[in-house]
Amino acid sequence: MTEDVVYLDYAATSAIRPESVTEAVVRYLRDVGATPGRAGHRRAVEAGRVVLRCRRALAELFNAPGDPGRVTFHLNATHALNTALAGLLAPGDRVVRTAYDHNAVRRPVRALAAHGIAETVLVGNPAGTVDLDEAEDALRGARLLVLPHAGNVLGVELPVAALAERAHAAGALVLVDAAQSAGVLPIDVQAMGVDLLAFTGHKGLLGPQGTGGLWVREGIDLRPTLFGGTGGDSDSPDMPALFPDRLEAGSQNGPGIAGLLAGVEWVRTHGVDAVRAREDALKWRLWKALHAIDGVDVRSPPEDGRRTVGIVTVTVRGMDSAAVARRLDAEFGVLVRAGLHCAPESHEILGTGRTGAVRFSVGWATTEAEVDRAVTAMARIAETKDGPRG
Ligand SMILES: Cc1ncc(COP(=O)(O)O)c(C=O)c1O
Repeated sequence: MTEDVVYLDYAATSAIRPESVTEAVVRYLRDVGATPGRAGHRRAVEAGRVVLRCRRALAELFNAPGDPGRVTFHLNATHALNTALAGLLAPGDRVVRTAYDHNAVRRPVRALAAHGIAETVLVGNPAGTVDLDEAEDALRGARLLVLPHAGNVLGVELPVAALAERAHAAGALVLVDAAQSAGVLPIDVQAMGVDLLAFTGHKGLLGPQGTGGLWVREGIDLRPTLFGGTGGDSDSPDMPALFPDRLEAGSQNGPGIAGLLAGVEWVRTHGVDAVRAREDALKWRLWKALHAIDGVDVRSPPEDGRRTVGIVTVTVRGMDSAAVARRLDAEFGVLVRAGLHCAPESHEILGTGRTGAVRFSVGWATTEAEVDRAVTAMARIAETKDGPRG
């Protein structure tokens, strides 16, 4: 599709990708084509090289020490989070999570209740902060803290390092959901005290859908939750003990991982800080202009020095959020996402649990002109919400 649209739904998926990503997928399908780790012939070996280069690039991006095999590939952040939660927790454990979680955390944690795993949810607020004293109390006796690096509705970075320090002092491990942050906020698993990091490939890392993964610190084992072929240790009825094979049952998504590698290389070439600075400027331009429109309530917190991702969440007084998104698309070619964004607790916090909200999200290819076009469209929608005038 090459129509004249303004794509502002990068928080869902970076539907617009650098050409190098598309080319890498095509090149892989055309010139490599084989499945990594499944044979000794040259094409399979080349496929294995692509996958290993991608593990290495991700480990470097996250400053993850040691064996790049501790980066395992999964279909998306959801599969990675399920792999971590179900592979780590055991009956009698308690997990502490936040009210800013995506359903990719909330639902697997809830499902684990049937296996005797309890949860404590840290309270949220419209500013998107976490009370460190509350966290410290909740973490006493817990096995795991799971939190988003940045939420997908408020978009604010959470104080991972401060929370990790408290989690570790209480003897709990730390699992970070980096779905919104990988590629757009700096991630240093060592400095932040992260034990397990789940990421997705199709948002800030600019890869294709069907890619994502998990980094697990050396010394932490996970019980496999999927069982099957790994291309090695084939005479054993059990999954291999070593990563990455332990967590990667079945043929890998070679073309997707080749595209993800190109996306990660794009991010590393441009630099996370530069990507973020650019998106930050666009996000605040959008935030301020939407805030200035009569009838539009901006729900994501104002600029206050904390780092954020490129999300601006709004409602239009007296209008259903789905109707706003429909008008943006149909009349103005502006593509956004309305509703609860798979994070109903964040919407409860913002007071939009019943109505949902409209989420604008900028990305690597967004321009000032696009932001301005979206603002003009919103001004027009707010002005004509009761039907055409005159
Ligand atoms: C904070 C957060 N966690 C998890 C996910 C799930 O990501 P994926 O679609 O890759 O499973 C998303 C994506 O919408 C997200 O925003």
